[in-house]
Amino acid sequence: MKQIELGPESPLRKKRFLYGVATASFQIEGSADTRLPCIWDTFCRQPGNISDGSNGDIACDHVRLWQQDLTLLTTLRVDAYRFSVSWPRVMHQNGEINEQGMAFYVRLLNALNQLGIKPFVTLYHWDLPQHLEDAGGWLNRETAYQYQRYVEAVCLAFRGKVYSYATFNEPFCSAHLGYELGVHAPGKTGRRNGRQAAHHILLAHGLGMQTLQRLSPDTLNGIVLNFTPCYSATESQDDIEAAEKADQYINQWYLMPVMEGCYPEIYRQLPPSERPDVLAGDMDIICQPLDFLGINFYTRLTYSAPLSPGEFYTEHEHRFPQTDIGWEIYPEALTDLLLTLNLRYRLPPVYITENGAAVEECFEQGEIDDSQRTAYFEQHLLALEAAMAQGVDVQGYFAWSLLDNFEWAEGFSKRFGLVYVDYASQQRIIKHSGKAYQALLSSRV
Ligand code: NOJ
Repeated sequence: MKQIELGPESPLRKKRFLYGVATASFQIEGSADTRLPCIWDTFCRQPGNISDGSNGDIACDHVRLWQQDLTLLTTLRVDAYRFSVSWPRVMHQNGEINEQGMAFYVRLLNALNQLGIKPFVTLYHWDLPQHLEDAGGWLNRETAYQYQRYVEAVCLAFRGKVYSYATFNEPFCSAHLGYELGVHAPGKTGRRNGRQAAHHILLAHGLGMQTLQRLSPDTLNGIVLNFTPCYSATESQDDIEAAEKADQYINQWYLMPVMEGCYPEIYRQLPPSERPDVLAGDMDIICQPLDFLGINFYTRLTYSAPLSPGEFYTEHEHRFPQTDIGWEIYPEALTDLLLTLNLRYRLPPVYITENGAAVEECFEQGEIDDSQRTAYFEQHLLALEAAMAQGVDVQGYFAWSLLDNFEWAEGFSKRFGLVYVDYASQQRIIKHSGKAYQALLSSRV
């Protein structure tokens, strides 16, 4: 069985480096009938949106099987577990707390603390209550204030039980994929919509951080952003410029406001009709000090000069080698990304809050051989080590994901788990990659 090989002196083999696994509420919980509907419930019901026509009604049935899933965490020997709270599970439509829903997470947190596993809580991983979407969703500024009230309720209920809070997971996906390209819920389109949704999510992040600073000053509070480093297709000046613009549009758009209180230069190149409404004082709210920055990394993209007027760049197909979901495997981009960000910004401590791969798996005699996934982890941990050796302060790494789960527009067709889920029986089987992860974690000194 393939193992994750890191040098004996690697900082990634020290006990002080934190290892975890991550999940998200909509992707694993199921029990949709015991919470309010969210935008993903609605999106899944529109034919054509999800490649296998599935939905999150049952998923990994985690709300019922959570104790079993916690046992998996202890078996894997992780230090930390990153999961998200489902807003529509813990709040009623009238703004009151859904005590039953909240109690589910309190039980989970108590059990994690008892096991000595640090809870990393994500407050928003894409499952916006549908009634808020009906009132405009992230296009409506009021949603940011509703979010702040939800954060306040969670903080009070979870007091003393959480190690780290992230305000948002991947605002890029919610805003760009959900409101600009329409390939994620709620399926809206248009540049102005995407940019406005992004601004309101960033505003909500700032408001959420203020609440966390007030009600939960002792937890590690921050945000989780995804980065897809942008490379130019050729050495030509036009392509280099296009890649730089793509980086501003898809990556820096979310980091710069949070770190420095302003949008990147490309904001000014948008026609006024496509710029988001930004009110006086918003950027100061958005730019709150962070205790950590969570980085999700999977792949890179290449770009060349735009083909049509009004565009900033042309995005290229992923190159080879690719994972099962068609994303290029290019671990050097993780090193480059961390070094570039570290040069450009005054970064707080960094955690890799997601990294992983959907790969082909070979099922034989009850064993699941997914050596490509193990190799992916190894390559990316080595890439991380290279960045740390050059001075980037990275304190932890979370594999995506604990379980195979609902992979958004791909439904259940793509598997990212360290643990295999047989959706018909809900049986869990630790894959070879899970065993390799466990071996690495147990071998730390
Ligand atoms: C990022 C998202 O946070 C997570 O929900 C998703 O499943 C993984 N990437 C893989 O696409």
